[in-house]
Amino acid sequence: MRFADSVVMVTGGASGLGEAVARRAVAAGASGVAILDANAERAAALAAELGDTVLAIPTDVTQSDRVALAVDEVVGRFGRIDTLVGCAGIPYATRTVDREGAPAPIDGWRRIIEVNLIGMFDVVSKASAAMSRNEPGEDGERGVIIMTASVAAFEGQVGQTAYSASKGGIAGMTLPLARDLAALGIRVLTIAPGLVDTPIYDLAPPGLKEQLGQTTVFPKRLGRADEFAQLAEALAENAYMNGEVVRMDAAIRMAPK
Ligand SMILES: NC(=O)c1ccc[n+]([C@@H]2O[C@H](COP(=O)([O-])OP(=O)(O)OC[C@H]3O[C@@H](n4cnc5c(N)ncnc54)[C@H](O)[C@@H]3O)[C@@H](O)[C@H]2O)c1
Repeated sequence: MRFADSVVMVTGGASGLGEAVARRAVAAGASGVAILDANAERAAALAAELGDTVLAIPTDVTQSDRVALAVDEVVGRFGRIDTLVGCAGIPYATRTVDREGAPAPIDGWRRIIEVNLIGMFDVVSKASAAMSRNEPGEDGERGVIIMTASVAAFEGQVGQTAYSASKGGIAGMTLPLARDLAALGIRVLTIAPGLVDTPIYDLAPPGLKEQLGQTTVFPKRLGRADEFAQLAEALAENAYMNGEVVRMDAAIRMAPK
């Protein structure tokens, strides 16, 4: 599935990795790009900057009825959805038992699973239902789904039980989703990024980004958001890639802290 002349829907598309995908899809000549993001203002500003082929739909991925309406709106405007790139997600850190001996508050833990894992599945299933109505292309392909996990799916650090569980859930559901959706001609892939320079590091203390950049094997720097978008495009284009979790991490293996 090429980005050119196709419809690309991006959750979390107003910032960071998702924004880079939206920009790349526009540059590649996508016929429609839909940005679904909880940050309505940022999504609208980006759509206004990128032009007529871009539609911003304020959507919180944990609101199932809003997700359904958003998918309908994309199909109403552009006629179909060919590729979904799921980037909506939030970080979170809390120790299982804190320094005072108190157990972790369960509401924060539950929220991460709601947004990162259940929200991802809900968007995937609703977008897949829309893709199932596409005319099949070569090999009978009707669509491609690319989810975003994290290397924390495999090497969660101290405090990352909830985040790792949410991302491990995405990694774990990649193959069964590919199997479920094979009959519809939909491929499913996951990218597990390492440390990529996006607004999630905006609040980092001075010097931290440079320090983190030294923790990779090679190259010794943070990843660039467009490197993620480039991989998403390559995975969408390569018809033989399916059911796989691909790390994009300069060979980093996260330490316990
Ligand atoms: N940047 C990294 O180093 C890195 C590494 C591994 C994984 N990731 C994952 O990549 C994804 C994107 O991260 P990013 O670095 O671009 O972060 P970001 O904060 O720049 O972008 C995330 C976007 O998701 C949106 N969002 C958050 N909650 C939402 C919700 N409930 N519904 C809809 N939209 C919502 C935000 O408004 C934001 O625009 C996340 O899932 C993150 O966990 C990032």
